[in-house]
Amino acid sequence: MTQHIGVMVTGGIAAYKVPLLIRSLIRGGAEVRVAMTQAAEAFVTAATLATVSKHSVLTDAREFAEPAHVAHVALAHWMDQAVVVPATANTIAKLAAGLADNVVTTTLLAFGGQKLLVPAMNDQMWVNPQTQANVAHLRDMGWQVLPPATGFLAEGYAAVGRMPDLPVIEAFIATAQPEPFLAGQTVLITAGGTRERLDPVRYIGNDSSGKMGTALANVAAAAGAQVTLVTTGDQPVLPGVTVISVTTAQAMQTAVQAAFAAADVVIMAAAVADYRPKYTATQKLKKTGDAGLTLELVQNPDILAGLGATKTHQFVVGFAAETNDVLANATAKLARKHVDMLVANRVGDGHGFNAATNQVTLLTPDQAPVSVPEASKVNVAAAILRHIQQVRA
Ligand code: CTP
Repeated sequence: MTQHIGVMVTGGIAAYKVPLLIRSLIRGGAEVRVAMTQAAEAFVTAATLATVSKHSVLTDAREFAEPAHVAHVALAHWMDQAVVVPATANTIAKLAAGLADNVVTTTLLAFGGQKLLVPAMNDQMWVNPQTQANVAHLRDMGWQVLPPATGFLAEGYAAVGRMPDLPVIEAFIATAQPEPFLAGQTVLITAGGTRERLDPVRYIGNDSSGKMGTALANVAAAAGAQVTLVTTGDQPVLPGVTVISVTTAQAMQTAVQAAFAAADVVIMAAAVADYRPKYTATQKLKKTGDAGLTLELVQNPDILAGLGATKTHQFVVGFAAETNDVLANATAKLARKHVDMLVANRVGDGHGFNAATNQVTLLTPDQAPVSVPEASKVNVAAAILRHIQQVRA
């Protein structure tokens, strides 16, 4: 069933990013309708939001445009989920007090489903005890809150209050539900492509951006898990995700092995280099004439196979990045590496590596393959994590 998301936009500068969020939610398979306050219209136009959401936008001026129905009640009935993004201190205060004086607050008061709050504001307004008390009150009433990030504010300095990056908001939306399905679980995830140094300025690497692994970490955290992300990248993560930054396959192996014993689920989404240079030059390699250069490579440890061979209680998941014969190669890898699940994905030609979307097939030793249709990496991550829970149950 298509997810119906009501995006409620209020008047903060971060509103200018909302069209991109809506586009991404729609690309991930959701249907989106928008309501916005008059203050929000100073930062982003209703025409922009109508164009990206493919529906007319509910504004105070349009509330009575259709006499046949009460617009805010109709929107409240249509939504499965409401996301207030960005949520200003003023709107948060109104919601905490139960006020209904514009289309956003009336729609939310008429809505009994899941409500998500993405506050973004000046740091002093956020830390103000009045705002904090209002947010705490909304949490008590069942609202789920994504706290603002620390970073560069519109005011020109770095502090808490910034709206989290869009993939983080998407993960929050994709997994917010009354019973977080990974509560109490410890999940270890790797992401990105390893880099194997040739000299101080060159390395052997690959096209992996770390988006898929980071999406898995964010979705797992949003679903209540204790998450450690071992990554070569610098993608934004949800608060609470422990990030261990590594560069090489060997460093990744050390970090993974240190966290393995405590993990319930391990997902190796990283693209690990199979080989590294035998020697790393301490100074930049110089051209030596026309003779060419031969690099001597040695094999890296296979981290996943090591986990497959030593696992006790852990559920171990690998990825199979294939350019051809995807299912046959992935099925062979599932057995060879003794893993509990393999996520097969096609890479190359704009697929997989560094793309915004992904399309994968989930292979397990005892069940028929499950195909996850093309969707945003956050939605694919949610599908993978839910399938893992289902297979483990
Ligand atoms: N992997 C790993 N250590 C390596 C290589 C791969 O842990 N040295 C993991 C990856 O993180 C991924 C899985 O193994 O989860 C499969 O990676 P892939 O590159 O598709 O397979 P390879 O083992 O390199 O096999 P092949 O070269 O035959 O494709």
